[in-house]
Amino acid sequence: MADDRRRTAPLLRRLESWQGRRVWLIGASDGIGRELARLLAADGARLAVSARRVDELEALARDLGPEALALPVDATDQAALTTAAARLEAAWGAVDHVIYTAGVYWPMGIDTFDVEKAAKMIEVNLTGGLRVTAAALPLLERGHAPQLALTASASAYRGLPRAIGYGASKAGLYNLAETLAVELAPRGIDVRVINPGFVRTRLTDMNDFRMPAMIEPEAAARAMRDGLASRHFHIHFPKRFTGLLVAARLLPSRWWLALSARMVKG
Ligand SMILES: NC(=O)c1ccc[n+]([C@@H]2O[C@H](COP(=O)([O-])OP(=O)(O)OC[C@H]3O[C@@H](n4cnc5c(N)ncnc54)[C@H](OP(=O)(O)O)[C@@H]3O)[C@@H](O)[C@H]2O)c1
Repeated sequence: MADDRRRTAPLLRRLESWQGRRVWLIGASDGIGRELARLLAADGARLAVSARRVDELEALARDLGPEALALPVDATDQAALTTAAARLEAAWGAVDHVIYTAGVYWPMGIDTFDVEKAAKMIEVNLTGGLRVTAAALPLLERGHAPQLALTASASAYRGLPRAIGYGASKAGLYNLAETLAVELAPRGIDVRVINPGFVRTRLTDMNDFRMPAMIEPEAAARAMRDGLASRHFHIHFPKRFTGLLVAARLLPSRWWLALSARMVKG
């Protein structure tokens, strides 16, 4: 068994069509997740949408059509996730895609350091991804060509100024996705990580600094949909921005720290 596991390469299946695919999207009540839900439903997928706010979810589910399910849940609550997964199992039997886009963000430098908010970012963004994976695994294992996708961020690549807590949560999620890609391949589950650059949502509305190559949520959702259907493990966009940060992973720490210190100065 141990040898079989070592020999199994991560699964990166190309998806020809979203028609009839059963998608559980967590973080769907706003921003990028909401746009992705609309896009996938328009492409014929069946959607179960989750987040904490019930009214927003129910309005979205009505927009998506009669087959859509609203499953309100807090991703930090394991018991609630298990209940949501059981509801989904009763409705669909299994799921083909679990897409985790839930996230919280507060810009934070040392001048505004708030340990409770920083811990909350790790609790929702990283531990929430872990909890959703645990709750959804039995459903995914019974899915057809199943796929798990975790939404991290371009801030996952290197430590960035003003990203205390957020950057660490996303670096952790990126790392988790790499581990799960190998661990879940023998169970037939294809794992992806999504690292967006700046996207105009209520999260980036909080930033008071310049955000290069900002895109709209509709464009982000299209890049996610196309990335998830491709054979790329690491989905990142817009590449004119994220490509630079991907390359920056190769810089020695000393050089990176000097560069990021210049970003703080402006
Ligand atoms: N916007 C960007 O520039 C950007 C860049 C890189 C990565 N990202 C990541 O992309 C994802 C989507 O971000 P966004 O900009 O679209 O933000 P958003 O508009 O604030 O959407 C975040 C979603 O997460 C849900 N959520 C938050 N806490 C939750 C919890 N505890 N349990 C369940 N759902 C929860 C929110 O719904 P409720 O409030 O109803 O729970 C909402 O549906 C996040 O993971 C974010 O970190 C965003």
